Amino acid sequence: MKFGYFDDQNKEYVIKTPKTPLPWINYLGNKEFFSLISNTGGGYTFYKDAKLMRITRYRYNDVPADCNGKYFYIKDNDVIWNPGWQPVKESLDSYECHHGMGYSKFLSKKNGVETSLLTFVPLDDACEISSLTLKNNTEEKKELQVFSYLEWCLWNADDDMKNFQRNLSIGEVEIKGSAIYHKTEYRERRNHYAVYAVNAQIDGFDTDRDAFLGEYRSMENPEVVQKGKSSNSVASGWSPIASHQLNVTLNPGEEKRYIFVLGYIENQEEDKWESKGVINKKRAELLLDKYYSDAAVDEAFQELKQYWGKLLAKFNVQTKNEKLNRMVNIWHQYQCMVTFNMSRSASYYESGIGRGMGFRDSCQDLMGFVHLIPERARELIIDIASTQFKDGSAYHQYQPLTKKGNADIGSGFNDDPLWLIAAVSAYVRETGDVSILDEMVPFDNEIGTEVTLMEHLKRSFDFTVNHKGPHGLPLIGRADWNDCLNLNCFSAHPGESFQTFGPSEGPVAESVFIAGMFVKYGKEYGDLCKLIGQDDEVKRTDYEVEKVYKAVLESGWDGEWFLRAYDANGDKVGSHVCEEGKIYIEPQGFCTMANIGVKEGLAEKALSSVEHCLDTKYGIRILAPAYTTYHLELGEVSSYPPGYKENSGIFCHNNPWISIAETVLGHGKRAFDVYQKTCPAYVEEFSEVHRTEPYVYSQMIAGSDAIRFGEAKNSWLTGTAAWTFINASQYILGVYPTLNGLSVNPCIPLEFGDFTVTRNYRGQVYNIQVHNPGGVEKGVKKLIVDGIEVEGTIIPFEENKEEYHIDVWLGKE
Ligand code: BGC
Ligand code: NOJ
Repeated sequence: MKFGYFDDQNKEYVIKTPKTPLPWINYLGNKEFFSLISNTGGGYTFYKDAKLMRITRYRYNDVPADCNGKYFYIKDNDVIWNPGWQPVKESLDSYECHHGMGYSKFLSKKNGVETSLLTFVPLDDACEISSLTLKNNTEEKKELQVFSYLEWCLWNADDDMKNFQRNLSIGEVEIKGSAIYHKTEYRERRNHYAVYAVNAQIDGFDTDRDAFLGEYRSMENPEVVQKGKSSNSVASGWSPIASHQLNVTLNPGEEKRYIFVLGYIENQEEDKWESKGVINKKRAELLLDKYYSDAAVDEAFQELKQYWGKLLAKFNVQTKNEKLNRMVNIWHQYQCMVTFNMSRSASYYESGIGRGMGFRDSCQDLMGFVHLIPERARELIIDIASTQFKDGSAYHQYQPLTKKGNADIGSGFNDDPLWLIAAVSAYVRETGDVSILDEMVPFDNEIGTEVTLMEHLKRSFDFTVNHKGPHGLPLIGRADWNDCLNLNCFSAHPGESFQTFGPSEGPVAESVFIAGMFVKYGKEYGDLCKLIGQDDEVKRTDYEVEKVYKAVLESGWDGEWFLRAYDANGDKVGSHVCEEGKIYIEPQGFCTMANIGVKEGLAEKALSSVEHCLDTKYGIRILAPAYTTYHLELGEVSSYPPGYKENSGIFCHNNPWISIAETVLGHGKRAFDVYQKTCPAYVEEFSEVHRTEPYVYSQMIAGSDAIRFGEAKNSWLTGTAAWTFINASQYILGVYPTLNGLSVNPCIPLEFGDFTVTRNYRGQVYNIQVHNPGGVEKGVKKLIVDGIEVEGTIIPFEENKEEYHIDVWLGKE
């Protein structure tokens, strides 16, 4: 069952009912000012950091879910409704929510009044614009009252939910004309404030939540709206809000439009102290003036659309498969932008107050994003590397505002260092910008400790070299990619929360997954060394990589698949000798991606074991059989009920690893099947089972042991976004950036047909036509670049060229 449809022309998903199985959300904002917005108008806004600079309040664990947002109430005599249906939930005569690239639009009709509400964050200003148009479609004159509504958060969202003894006395607002200023904390900080304004004279306002709602009421039935009259309340402590009243008279056929602007103003040093705690409004007024007219707003919206048009044109594919085109050309790349911006901080399932930017997460996110805006990926790499420690380990998370590592979580995730190599390699392969390797970057953000980024990569590499266990495999530490595989936590006291993760290091527990990563990214580090002429280091990396490669073959192979790990007792994890958790997905994907065991025929076996033991109709499970009891020696992985999350859920993140691994072996059909199984556009048909948004990935789909098999959770912020785009663009379609130029080497099903790719790479346009006359799955027979045949699969890079025309002929040698 579907709840909407894709509109590819407009790059939108159009939701036809407000009653989606879960809130289906969108993200507004590209750089610093962000909003989450659901298909019923719920959500919240923040500046840079969802924890420290929260502008509007969201109520977690609310019932019903998602009933705090930026709302508009429309009152036509006795009938009151919202264009997005919530919170009044009055049934609408028609409803549509269009989630597009950085904007959401609500179209609805009620009582002969047609409303269109467009919300977006303009490209270069810290504000959100809501353009509300009301049209009278009846023969009668309409006298409507319209009320806006939002609730301010007292900035630090964590404190805002806890520190009531203080919070309930600090709220302050100011009303000037049609602008409502939120100035809580201005008294002592004077560095910022927020404002909510409308470009019309208002007929009333409210800034005190209780006055607006009335006693013992909720957002569903505010007293002010029911009375049709604002109370002009001025908040003093308690819960400040911003609500405007507009009395709107509409003659038959008449239409009126209002522009609401929610702005965040950061004071500059010079206007911070000049007016002793009295808010200095000049920057806000400039902002509000800028978006006062309809024309200015229309222009800003067009700019946003053009911006996205240009960005997405950087990778465009045309195949006969409409869903693949849609996902690759629009939604995969869009989700990559969102994960790049948010890491795992703010979604409807990440509270914005817990996790900040993840070291491993952001490194992977930027790999799917780097082709869009390489400069931003470059900045992020430097931020991330600055949280690394001298021994190559790293803070697992950092706060986006301060960019400082999070000491509460600390370090000890032994895969983290290698992800930095993966990210930098992806950046240099994309841009050719080797100057980044010479950037001076501190350790743990400490001034005076700066070394080159290349030296950071060396420390990453050496971290694994220096942390190996009895089998010569990398030590796992607190966990590797699988946060829940806590093999050193068995000495923790029973009953203690798994969040403590136990001791960070143990001399025995080893990870075959990290071994796969080391072989893959160790080689990529070696390639970078080679590129800049560090020949001795190249030899050293070859030697170290080879050692780990051998260790995997000797001690990381289980007979039919790659072993997952050794626990702190030296016992095998993910082996046929285990009663449960016999096979795990991660090493099968990563070792094959690293080419381990490919020539030995092991990879082939490992992938067929995956198909055999882990595959389901909704995707590939992370492990099987699920753990039915808690295992102290394994930790959190066995804490989940069977079928959920890391305990045999379908973890979407590592499904593309299997798909990529299949392309390494040349299995085009299987690679594409794996891709399709979890891909949103292909699962849209059964949205009632899947339940999360059908235009983006979720972190997890409940596995076959779960009671709710097929139900997805934790949409939006997942490494699946980057990996699936990498898989589809670089491995299935085969357009892979190497250090020496763009390579084309697709791996597709026999009946996939010819296709074209337009790719912007290092500032040049590559028009690639792939022909597959004989219907092979993999194999480039002939590569023709601007009429000239070229050896191999790499298109020679020519400095001054603007455009290339490339014909790739697939076929047997
Ligand atoms: C989740 C993991 C997540 C970790 C982060 C765990 O509870 O299962 O998926 O990575 O928390 O701390
Ligand atoms: C979610 C985390 O954000 C990610 O870093 C981790 O790899 C997966 N969970 C698997 O545990």
